[in-house]
Amino acid sequence: MVVVAILAAGRGTRMKSNLPKVLHSLGGRSLIERVIHSVKPLSPTRQMVIVGYQAQEVKAAMQPLPNVEFVEQAVQLGTGHAIQQLLPHLEGYTGDLLVLYGDVPLLRTETLKNLLQTHQEHQNAATILTAHLANPKGYGRVFCNSENIVQQIIEDRDCTPAQKENNRINAGIYCFRWQDLAKVLPHLQANNSQKEYYLTDAVSSLKPVMAVDLQDDQEILGINDRLQLATAYEILQKRVKEKWMSAGVTLIDPASITIDDTVEIQPDVIIEPQTHLRGDTVIHTGSRIGPGSFIENSQIGENVTVLYSVVKDSIVHTGTQVGPYAHLRGHAEVGVACRVGNFVELKNTKLGERTNVAHLSYLGDTTAGSRVNIGAGTITANYDGVKKHRTIIGNSTGTGSNSVLVAPLALGNNVYVAAGSTITEDVPDDCLVIARARQVVKPGWRKKSSQS
Ligand code: UD1
Ligand code: CA
Repeated sequence: MVVVAILAAGRGTRMKSNLPKVLHSLGGRSLIERVIHSVKPLSPTRQMVIVGYQAQEVKAAMQPLPNVEFVEQAVQLGTGHAIQQLLPHLEGYTGDLLVLYGDVPLLRTETLKNLLQTHQEHQNAATILTAHLANPKGYGRVFCNSENIVQQIIEDRDCTPAQKENNRINAGIYCFRWQDLAKVLPHLQANNSQKEYYLTDAVSSLKPVMAVDLQDDQEILGINDRLQLATAYEILQKRVKEKWMSAGVTLIDPASITIDDTVEIQPDVIIEPQTHLRGDTVIHTGSRIGPGSFIENSQIGENVTVLYSVVKDSIVHTGTQVGPYAHLRGHAEVGVACRVGNFVELKNTKLGERTNVAHLSYLGDTTAGSRVNIGAGTITANYDGVKKHRTIIGNSTGTGSNSVLVAPLALGNNVYVAAGSTITEDVPDDCLVIARARQVVKPGWRKKSSQS
């Protein structure tokens, strides 16, 4: 049984931001959401976020996440003081407590599982995550005996020059047997250079405490400023891209591509340069995305191509070609084997199978059937200045170049709209509709006008 505590009360001054540090976004998720996400597979019985600075904002942003509780630490008197706030909430609890930081977002679930497993197998009072760093400056130093049993943790600023030579550092990630920790927490003293209550002092008075070394130092990168945020992003991108490449996805020029780790990509997808995949996006097998495309919160079917285009909050079905230079947004849904091409914008529009909108069109709030051909420059006038209206287009209907469809409007099946028409009234099945002034030719006009 494990309860997770996430420390997130600190101010994060170095971000120089109005947004609380833990809410800064890293590849589509906030820092703290990432931490929550990493513990999910451990099925914690409770997840307690310790909030302080801008507590209201942090709580509000995290409200949608299930099974998260908030504990306020009104003044921040140190990491030990933060964990002391849990005492009234965990009275009588007999399991383990996993302590994490809200600003350390790259920890792998495997690492946490391993920590927890070692802790439980050895029945330790506490088990802590350590690393050997080339540059240990700023971190607490961990002093162990030969069996990895921790004797003491000394903060960098409290170390003697000789102690600073020890490069084994405290990552700040711990697993505690709660009952043991609860006994020592009330006795913490703030007699150190920062006058803070150190959680590391609690570690020193527990027995036995074991240290577990991290395999990959990058996991404990803490985010204190924008530079570290960018570094974390790079690390994350590398992980995500390696994962998809080993799963059978081709990335052409990976350095120019960005992929949120919320995205799912099937094997035999090819991602071309300068392509960005964001949010809740799925790309199905055989599709080729890019170069130069942006896809967010969208479902792309099998064997689709998306070339130099933007697709947001939309669905594209099997075998469809999108682009170059198309923009799908506002829950557009494009059917099987369609073509949506050059400078076409679709907003909240649904196209059936084998329908083409190939050039220079705007279709907003439109439902078009299958085998429809939308001519170059066809525009739906969907907005009357107050409300948006729908346009319905039947199967096998076509529009000539430069037609305007003034909504609300329904065109039946097999209708043909003559080029340059402005259609304001519904048209039944099988009609040709022409709505433009007749051409007038005045013979000899040029001569006459020059005589006068
Ligand atoms: C802490 C450890 C140090 C370790 C390092 C790893 C202590 C005394 N030291 O130092 O051994 O090497 O982490 O990064 O624990 N926080 C609160 N409330 C507080 C104080 C801090 O929520 O009252 C949160 C902060 O927002 C931050 C985290 O706890 O996310 C760490 O606090 P910080 O003061 O930065 O600890 P370090 O000095 O880094
Ligand atoms: Ca820190």
